Amino acid sequence: MKVNPRKAAIIGCGFVGASIAFRFLQQGLFSQLVLVDVNREKAEGEAMDLSDGLPYAEAMEITAGGYDDIADCALIVITAGANQKPGETRLDLIGKNIAILKGVIGEITARDFGGILLVVSNPVDVLTYAAWKLSGYPKNRVIGSGTVLDTARLKQILGEKLGVDSRNVHAFIVGEHGDSELAVWSGANVSGVDLDQFCHLRGDPLDHEEMERIYQGVRDSAYEIIRRKGATYYGIAMAVGRIAQCILRDEKAVLPISAVLEGQYGLEGLCLSVPSIVGKGGLEEVLEIPLSAQEREALASSARQMQEAIASVGL
Ligand SMILES: NC(=O)c1ccc[n+]([C@@H]2O[C@H](COP(=O)([O-])OP(=O)(O)OC[C@H]3O[C@@H](n4cnc5c(N)ncnc54)[C@H](O)[C@@H]3O)[C@@H](O)[C@H]2O)c1
Repeated sequence: MKVNPRKAAIIGCGFVGASIAFRFLQQGLFSQLVLVDVNREKAEGEAMDLSDGLPYAEAMEITAGGYDDIADCALIVITAGANQKPGETRLDLIGKNIAILKGVIGEITARDFGGILLVVSNPVDVLTYAAWKLSGYPKNRVIGSGTVLDTARLKQILGEKLGVDSRNVHAFIVGEHGDSELAVWSGANVSGVDLDQFCHLRGDPLDHEEMERIYQGVRDSAYEIIRRKGATYYGIAMAVGRIAQCILRDEKAVLPISAVLEGQYGLEGLCLSVPSIVGKGGLEEVLEIPLSAQEREALASSARQMQEAIASVGL
């Protein structure tokens, strides 16, 4: 089926799906948005509520629909599934969410869908790999939101500490979107100035303890938010909006999306987040950025955990 470049769908209209829909409405990237949920009334209610904002946004048709309505989409975002309850890890969701994902992918592949699948449901790396395997689509067309959100959290904390615009901070969180993720401190910089040097320049040196505290703050951020308000959704909505924009506008931006690895960093048979070029083809290239020996080992360890999780669900 011919892909409509101005049409997107969101499957799962809970906190995350509805927030992404709101972000899409604000961005004006799409002229059609279809909301799909097992709870049809929830999708209808969200479509009605969002449509009320249209006079103050760019023209867009927002409807609740089914799988027959979304086969021509350029982008399908999958957020269907259970979210973390206080104290639960993302990997704890694996059983429930793999079952839901299988149903969703079955419905999509039963139609002639030619666009890009963007998985957001957790555990996102395992589910992205499952979506790729189950769909049989080429790897460029199946990506996960990965550590794009975690990377934003790191940039934000560093920007705040240094009193600079977080958009000038260049640093990545890579690996699992979850407990085994790591910060790539070795390549971190602020507008091209090595992070360590920049901290000295600002009279606020960064010692090992503080780096560890910042990393833990990023890694545990979702737990802290969930403990206070029950779910996380605005940050991920901004991250998904950014990924969608890179695809729709063919930006070829470097983002740590979750992607199928085929030998990069010596890893294969899994999805993991590493910096990749994102453009109109979805995943355009996985980049092998320089890592310190310690970072390489931490990435390998994160990969082992993902491979175990993948094996545990028989993929
Ligand atoms: N990747 C990230 O960075 C990130 C960030 C936040 C949340 N999440 C994940 O996003 C997912 C959704 O979280 P949430 O807070 O919106 O949960 P939620 O419970 O508010 O919403 C989930 C929605 O999925 C729907 N759903 C369930 N099964 C479905 C199916 N088979 N088909 C269509 N819809 C179905 C439910 O009816 C519900 O509306 C969770 O897995 C959560 O962990 C990911």
